[in-house]
Amino acid sequence: MAAMTRALLLLLLFVLAIWSAEGQQRVYDVLDFHAAGDGKTDDAQAFLAAWQAACSDGRGEPVMAIPGERVFLLSQVSFQGPCKSPITVKLDGNIVAPNNIWTKQEASLLTFFGIDHLTLDGNGEIDGQGAIWWDCYSRKTCQDRPVLLGFARCNYLTVTRIHLKDSAEKHMTLFQCSQVIVDSVSVTAPADSPNTDGITVAFSNNTYISNCAIQTGDDCVSVLSDTKNITVTQSRCGPGHGISVGSLGGSETAMVEQITVSNCNFVGTMTGVRIKSWQGGKGYAKGFLFQTLNMTEVQNPIVIDQFYCPQGNCPIKNGGVAISNAKFIDIQGTSSEQEAIRLLCSQSVPCQDIYFSNINLSWANQTAPANATTLNAHGSTAGMVVPRIQFSDISFS
Ligand SMILES: *[C@@H]1O[C@H](CO)[C@@H](O)[C@H](O)[C@H]1NC(C)=O
Ligand SMILES: *[C@@H]1O[C@H](CO)[C@@H](O)[C@H](O)[C@H]1NC(C)=O
Ligand SMILES: *[C@@H]1O[C@H](CO)[C@@H](O)[C@H](O)[C@H]1NC(C)=O
Ligand SMILES: *[C@@H]1O[C@H](CO)[C@@H](O)[C@H](O)[C@H]1NC(C)=O
Ligand SMILES: *[C@@H]1O[C@H](CO)[C@@H](O)[C@H](O)[C@H]1NC(C)=O
Ligand SMILES: *[C@@H]1O[C@H](CO)[C@@H](O)[C@H](O)[C@H]1NC(C)=O
Repeated sequence: MAAMTRALLLLLLFVLAIWSAEGQQRVYDVLDFHAAGDGKTDDAQAFLAAWQAACSDGRGEPVMAIPGERVFLLSQVSFQGPCKSPITVKLDGNIVAPNNIWTKQEASLLTFFGIDHLTLDGNGEIDGQGAIWWDCYSRKTCQDRPVLLGFARCNYLTVTRIHLKDSAEKHMTLFQCSQVIVDSVSVTAPADSPNTDGITVAFSNNTYISNCAIQTGDDCVSVLSDTKNITVTQSRCGPGHGISVGSLGGSETAMVEQITVSNCNFVGTMTGVRIKSWQGGKGYAKGFLFQTLNMTEVQNPIVIDQFYCPQGNCPIKNGGVAISNAKFIDIQGTSSEQEAIRLLCSQSVPCQDIYFSNINLSWANQTAPANATTLNAHGSTAGMVVPRIQFSDISFS
């Protein structure tokens, strides 16, 4: 009798266990996969083991957990999909890169590749320990520096709350991704750290970046070619080079459309919003909306530059990426240089359908007004536009 009761009880417990596991997210904690979390031991293998287990779990929505109040030293790790279920990586602890020159090739410290329905969320930080890389770059002894966090071929991707710090080069890249949400992510790196872009988007579409705070040494957000329907909103940029589209038309044919930057603050940046392309490039960039932007002592708040040439030694070439349909609406604040607006377009492929409305930019702390320089730009204005914009009245197209 007692044996039978015990058997029944065991059966009941077994059924209960299965039943509760069904409705639950199973958690794969990296500590259970022998991560040390002491900031000294390389935990890459433990992270990969936890990832493999979570990614091959087809029973629910697995969570790979990186617990808080710990520091995990990671050498290069590539998390590969596809996974059996939508998967969450919960980053509450901190990840730190090795403090040495650990690669001479194009690489990312952390790569997420080919994963659909991935969520990366948490209060944790990823620290690229960039200082030695910036130093080695300035001494011209390293060519390729690693990206901190790379996503490639991830659809239905959500990245929220994490903090990225001091990348050797770009902080976060999205390549060939679609249906992406990036929210409340912060990036910090020194204003003079070279090429440390915040978020770079290329070959991707339907991407929504909101509530981000980016302080870095290069573009806060850079949108490169083959992008469609990319929004950056409710975000703060500075220090940094601004939110930039381009440089376009270098080696590939530019295909950029439906780009929105709205409700953003720019503080002490080099440019505010900018579209830049190389001379002689091919392709198009069209359908821009830059709306409700607040500039505080930004060197040049609004820039379109079809003669982009950072080293200043570019040969003159005919043609260029066709830039059209760009709307600048409700943009106010101050520039730290007199030239608040610069629209430099080529004679062979002038900028078309540029629209300005409700613009009020003044030269910070100066008694002289800010100005707008234009070359081969065609378009119109409505309402108050200060400084005044002189569009080319003859169309060459
Ligand atoms: C959106 O991006 C995905 C992933 O790169 C691609 O497969 C798809 O063709 C793109 N769609 C459009 C409309 O560009
Ligand atoms: C643009 O992308 C957003 C996601 O960021 C999506 O919700 C929206 O439907 C897309 N719009 C178009 C016209 O594809
Ligand atoms: C614009 O930025 C300045 C300086 O950061 C701030 O004081 C001001 O409130 C902002 N204005 C708006 C409309 O956000
Ligand atoms: C403008 O004045 C503010 C406040 O006095 C100061 O912090 C800032 O550095 C000045 N900017 C320039 C460009 O002179
Ligand atoms: C334009 O901005 C200046 C300086 O910020 C301000 O004093 C002025 O009132 C603004 N004009 C309008 C019409 O908003
Ligand atoms: C605007 O100001 C800059 C710097 O003072 C000057 O180089 C440029 O020629 C000016 N542009 C116009 C259109 O006045």
